[in-house]
Amino acid sequence: MAHRWLRWPHPHNPIAYGADYNPEQWSPRTWREDVALMREASVNIVNLGIFSWAEVRPAPDEWRWDWLDEILDLLHDNGIAVDLGTGTASPPPWLTTLHPEILPVTADGRTLGPGGRQHWRPTSPVFRRYALEHVRAVADRYGAHPGLAMWHVSNELGCHNALDYSDDAAAAFRTWLRARYDTLDALNTAWGTAFWSQRYSAWEQILPPRLAASYPNPAQQLDFHRFSSDALREHLRAEAAVLRELTPDIPVTTNFMVMGDTRNMDYAGWRHDVDLVSNDHYLTGARPDAFEELCFSANLVRGLADSAPWFLMEQSTSAVNWQPVNHAKAPGQLARDSLAHLAHGADAISFFQWRQSTAGAEKYHSAMLPHAGTRSRLWRDVRDLGATLRELGEVAGSRAAPSSVAVLFDWESWWSSELDSHPSELFRYRELALDWYKAFEALGIATDVQPVDADLTGYRMVVAPGLHLVPADLAARITAHVDGGGHFVTTFFSGIVDENDRVLTGGYPGAFRDLLGVRVEEFAPLAPGAVAALDRAGHGTLWTEHIAVDPGVDVLVRFADGDLAGLPAATRRPVGTGSAAYAGTRLDPVALRALVGDLSGRAGLGPDLDPAAAPAVVRRVRQTDTTRYVFLVNRTREARTVTAEHGYDLLGRREVTGSLDLAPLGVAVLRQPRPIDHDECSLGTELIQKTS
Ligand code: GLA
Repeated sequence: MAHRWLRWPHPHNPIAYGADYNPEQWSPRTWREDVALMREASVNIVNLGIFSWAEVRPAPDEWRWDWLDEILDLLHDNGIAVDLGTGTASPPPWLTTLHPEILPVTADGRTLGPGGRQHWRPTSPVFRRYALEHVRAVADRYGAHPGLAMWHVSNELGCHNALDYSDDAAAAFRTWLRARYDTLDALNTAWGTAFWSQRYSAWEQILPPRLAASYPNPAQQLDFHRFSSDALREHLRAEAAVLRELTPDIPVTTNFMVMGDTRNMDYAGWRHDVDLVSNDHYLTGARPDAFEELCFSANLVRGLADSAPWFLMEQSTSAVNWQPVNHAKAPGQLARDSLAHLAHGADAISFFQWRQSTAGAEKYHSAMLPHAGTRSRLWRDVRDLGATLRELGEVAGSRAAPSSVAVLFDWESWWSSELDSHPSELFRYRELALDWYKAFEALGIATDVQPVDADLTGYRMVVAPGLHLVPADLAARITAHVDGGGHFVTTFFSGIVDENDRVLTGGYPGAFRDLLGVRVEEFAPLAPGAVAALDRAGHGTLWTEHIAVDPGVDVLVRFADGDLAGLPAATRRPVGTGSAAYAGTRLDPVALRALVGDLSGRAGLGPDLDPAAAPAVVRRVRQTDTTRYVFLVNRTREARTVTAEHGYDLLGRREVTGSLDLAPLGVAVLRQPRPIDHDECSLGTELIQKTS
């Protein structure tokens, strides 16, 4: 991916601030009020035309550009740049009436109707033709508009239609499989079709894993995930190709959904098809650790962007409308959450949406301008955040500084580890990754959440919780990292299968058995709510297993009750100056923090933040060649003091020497000269030892 930024008209106001703007829901008189209020709030960009297909082309032979012409000019005249949607996210009623064969089909054969949104098959040639025709028309019309800053392909590709089991999908799946396997024999081997009489003798017999009498073939399910992600990616590429042909100077993005449980798109591949990475993030209100999940997601987006600036395309100013109970944000939270994204490398803070709708399914979704109007706390918070971002303008363009620890994240392991007919249906890949990320952060040790194909050079420790699917080249990369003096940490249900979901035999975890010096004969997962006692504080949940260790492997934690009492629960094998460590249960936060402290201490890794403040405060660094920006974000509703920090406080406008007070949910950004050797700041090993 060539990193590009927006075509940006605001050199003095470089952080992008704005929202999805849906003027089609409002009268032209309201548009004028909108742009006046946008200016008041320091809004300098809007995402326009995202769902405008039916408004621009209300009938097959009717195009209506006048309203979009007018609004683009109005925004431009007011200094507001436009991230223009290709508008293809939701096909209009005339298209689904004319071509009902574009509608997606569920695994149990039900065709999804129109009337919502995103009701299209990613593999429909008919849909593709109409969509590209529309993209071409939009790009022809607006490609030369001076207000156009960026193209926004479709919207949240795969949000509702990622897994389509239609006949179009079946045909495209076969084509995809032929390209992957070349011969039926190779496919039969990869899928293990000797099992349950599943051998294929002609390509036409192969289908998507539709609702079946019993568990569908797991390798087929895994390939269907890969295929479905690729099919959407193909759509992204097809729209992007039209845009790049017509307007090579305008960068192209699409909004990823690195958040919560959204799992169907393998963005590690997709990132190569956009000029800059954009993400949507919504908090999961029911999670007590919703803010940590935000930071984890933002951190992974930073990884997808190779630490270059990225665009937070959507978040909510307050409540959403699509969770069981939609919580309003607390006072101060809007700014805290937004600046946390900035801390992780975002150079754009944008919302869904500008003006809260009065009709449609999202009328109770918050917006920058709420139903209550400008006489509201929310509006004041929105205006204040705009002013804050202006004050932080000099941060724009800086890159996220690297950490010493990488937490690996892999969509293929996510898909494969949570297939059906497994040892435990309670296993949750992303939750396990989040556990480990949180434990490091709570000790003040900054981590980079990295896609699994990231370059590991420079990381002193690589952590791969639940890395279930491990092709030989990945195992070799990790082994080389350890042989080179690096430290590696992994867990139960890692290194279990190859790229075809075929078990690596000889004792688990096959891919890492020798590296870790452990051998597991059998899994012993725990019932919901059951715990495994340990020989230290805390306990294990979800999983236990009988671990035998090779000579020279240190046992760090042991099980303390049941059949496994006295046997290893966590181990570490020194390898030269590096090491390979393993945890055979899901450690609760107390036990996990202790283990992470122990492993970090042994690896000589110190905290990047005053450990006394660490559980409450997130510290992230952005940097240019000469300057570092240290973000300190208070995740709690209590005031906090952070020691051992210095620099010029951009928001407090004063020098900080050694100690800094953060308000509840408060954020400070300290400017420091970047040390000549460009080393990351670390407080040293003695501080981490105190915490472990
Ligand atoms: C998604 C979509 C938006 C809107 C928001 C609501 O992110 O992209 O159009 O529906 O959800 O949270």
